[in-house]
Amino acid sequence: MKFLNLIISVFCLSLIFSSSLVLAQQSYARKATTNCSNTDNSTTVLGYTCNGVSKSCQSYLTFRALSPYNAVKSISSLLNAEPSQVAQINSVSENTTFDSNKEVIVPVGCSCSGPYYQSNASYVVQSDDTYFVIANNTYQGLSTCQALQNENGNLTKYIYSGTNITVPLRCACPTENQTNDGIKYLLSYLITWGDTVSLISARFGADTGTTFEANGLSEQDTNIYPFTTLLVPLQEPPSSNQTLTPPPPPPSPPPPPSSSTSGSKGNSKKTWIYVVVGVVGGIVVCVVGVVIFLVFFRRKSARRSKTDPVSSSQSFEALEKSPKVGENSSVFLESLSSIALSIKTYSFEELQLATDNFSPKCWIKGSVYCGTFNGDFAAIKKMNGDVSEEIRLLNKINHMNLIRLSGVCFHDGHWYLVYEYAANGPLSDWIYKNRSDDKFLSWTQRIQIALDAATGLNYLHSYTSPPQVHKNISSSNVLLDSDFRAKITNLGLARSAEAQEGEFALTRHIVGTKGYMAPEYLENGLVSTKIDVYAFGVLLLEILSGKEATTLCGNSMHISETLLGGGNEENEKLKDLIDPSLENNYPPELAVFMVRLVESCLSKDPTPRPIMDEVVQSLSRALTTSLNWEMSNMSGDQSYS
Ligand SMILES: *[C@@H]1O[C@H](CO)[C@@H](O)[C@H](O)[C@H]1NC(C)=O
Ligand SMILES: *[C@@H]1O[C@H](CO)[C@@H](O)[C@H](O)[C@H]1NC(C)=O
Ligand SMILES: *[C@@H]1O[C@H](CO)[C@@H](O)[C@H](O)[C@H]1NC(C)=O
Ligand SMILES: *[C@@H]1O[C@H](CO)[C@@H](O)[C@H](O)[C@H]1NC(C)=O
Ligand SMILES: *[C@@H]1O[C@H](CO)[C@@H](O)[C@H](O)[C@H]1NC(C)=O
Ligand SMILES: *[C@@H]1O[C@H](CO)[C@@H](O)[C@H](O)[C@H]1NC(C)=O
Ligand SMILES: *[C@@H]1O[C@H](CO)[C@@H](O)[C@H](O)[C@H]1NC(C)=O
Ligand SMILES: *[C@@H]1O[C@H](CO)[C@@H](O)[C@H](O)[C@H]1NC(C)=O
Ligand SMILES: *[C@@H]1O[C@H](CO)[C@@H](O)[C@H](O)[C@H]1NC(C)=O
Repeated sequence: MKFLNLIISVFCLSLIFSSSLVLAQQSYARKATTNCSNTDNSTTVLGYTCNGVSKSCQSYLTFRALSPYNAVKSISSLLNAEPSQVAQINSVSENTTFDSNKEVIVPVGCSCSGPYYQSNASYVVQSDDTYFVIANNTYQGLSTCQALQNENGNLTKYIYSGTNITVPLRCACPTENQTNDGIKYLLSYLITWGDTVSLISARFGADTGTTFEANGLSEQDTNIYPFTTLLVPLQEPPSSNQTLTPPPPPPSPPPPPSSSTSGSKGNSKKTWIYVVVGVVGGIVVCVVGVVIFLVFFRRKSARRSKTDPVSSSQSFEALEKSPKVGENSSVFLESLSSIALSIKTYSFEELQLATDNFSPKCWIKGSVYCGTFNGDFAAIKKMNGDVSEEIRLLNKINHMNLIRLSGVCFHDGHWYLVYEYAANGPLSDWIYKNRSDDKFLSWTQRIQIALDAATGLNYLHSYTSPPQVHKNISSSNVLLDSDFRAKITNLGLARSAEAQEGEFALTRHIVGTKGYMAPEYLENGLVSTKIDVYAFGVLLLEILSGKEATTLCGNSMHISETLLGGGNEENEKLKDLIDPSLENNYPPELAVFMVRLVESCLSKDPTPRPIMDEVVQSLSRALTTSLNWEMSNMSGDQSYS
């Protein structure tokens, strides 16, 4: 009953039935479609209300290719569409077989049948079919068990194989208000994991507000669920370049990392550099492959996990929000909390304008460009594949030490993410990489940057629910703004620390940046927030030493032993360790404190490593000491400011 109340309270019934003059939009049916005994016709479980300007119109469906319905011919026959039209709109030939999971656009005629719009298809029942299986599994949610029951009689449990039934597919024609807005078509989009109203709208060039309105949703009420349909209002027919292509087949996992401890230390430096370049290059390729594989694998496994929403990586928001429903009902459906409108949807033209048509002078590096929107700088990153995890995470968090995502754009099969701009670029440029003489960070600036990065990480570990592990902390993933305050970026590898049971989670796929990876992660694939603490220790060492960790001693797994091995000659060791360009402009006792902090973060065993909250506290004290020292030294040496 709770469930029903929820639906009733959310849907504005009076709007639909109070007056025939008001042209109602459609109410999104949510999880009601999975309760076959819920035939409450005040929701759209039976179909979208016939309330448009026309009694019949051209409309579009999406469908994901899945054997045996994975070719133009078989999909057309399942959905009663014209194979030639399906081929044309998807820019393929009529005898094409799609890759599994490819999103296919299907043009169908839509017309009123009684009080509802529908597009008729016919289906011959197979053994073990139920209305629910036909609607949810075969038709992926393009029809509902209630509508099938309504159309073909009320047998919900057993229907006989060989029976030819009519399948009413969910479609609709634009209302008067939509027509006035220039909307010509409605696309019945099949929601899948990771979708949000704004991402779907962005992809099909629809305005998010208009999509909300078309489905009776609002900014305050944005939850959508897989295997249900969302009406997307379109001004132009959809095109193949708006559909997502499935990721390529998974590559073979990377070879286990070899921690070569052989005694061939005396090799020339050059050979070592080549090895590093090769290894880093290889790792980059593997990381990309593994990310693609993970996305693919996660989607598949998410789809399989009927009874255990917790095991799905997507559900951290769902856990907080979704109402508890009965065991037999729709537990499998995960609440997908939509992206609030705080993230703007940009048109590609706006991005072109902002970046001077992606001109080389706006290029930063890789696929990252700099752009200006209304005079404000922004970084624009072009990405392939599924970016919903990163977007979802960035949308959830709001912290000055984590780079902010301000907008998204989908164009021609690619995502473009628009981020807050950090004027001084990556920290690595300031501590070792291509460092020019004008790039110099004072001791206090370095402590401030370390504290900022630690604070950002601490936020991810302690103030997101569940905790997130960044997994890829490095000096390239810490950006500096115009005031040299640090912001962590590149959350693409971040994942929930609680997705698995126990303190540590296991992974077979080692991803991250060489030199920063904790021993237990490299060797055993153990993931916990402690791997970020280790990486932070390496980062802190780089900040203090002005050198790249890997060049310090090749294999950072043994950094703590090689460099910090304990002992009494601390000041002697410090001389070697602290960046010589600081020219001894730092309080020596604080430097000892910092090195001890590095040492504790780099502990080979994760257990004694401090948690990020402790690191933040230590660094806050260090900053205070450093500022006091700077004040008292003001009158003296002023070689930095
Ligand atoms: C249609 O538009 C009018 C005027 O903009 C508005 O008052 C009315 O509520 C709209 N109808 C629906 C169903 O949104
Ligand atoms: C399914 O719908 C029926 C009728 O509306 C209702 O009595 C029942 O409680 C619903 N079941 C669940 C699990 O929501
Ligand atoms: C909904 O069902 C009630 C009775 O079950 C019926 O009177 C009403 O006409 C139906 N409304 C629609 C739009 O089908
Ligand atoms: C698909 O059909 C075209 C002609 O329509 C033909 O040339 C091509 O060989 C066919 N491809 C396959 C794989 O059958
Ligand atoms: C769809 O099927 C229903 C019931 O079988 C029928 O009333 C309606 O006319 C059909 N619509 C079209 C467009 O064929
Ligand atoms: C609905 O269909 C999907 C896709 O085939 C499947 O993964 C899911 O488990 C189905 N839901 C139920 C409750 O069977
Ligand atoms: C539904 O089926 C039952 C028998 O299972 C029958 O008595 C009843 O009349 C049917 N209702 C409708 C609306 O067809
Ligand atoms: C099922 O029925 C529809 C129309 O009622 C017909 O067009 C279709 O060919 C039939 N399918 C089979 C396999 O008999
Ligand atoms: C996408 O397809 C549409 C229709 O086929 C076309 O007008 C548009 O130019 C295409 N966009 C790109 C970027 O290719």
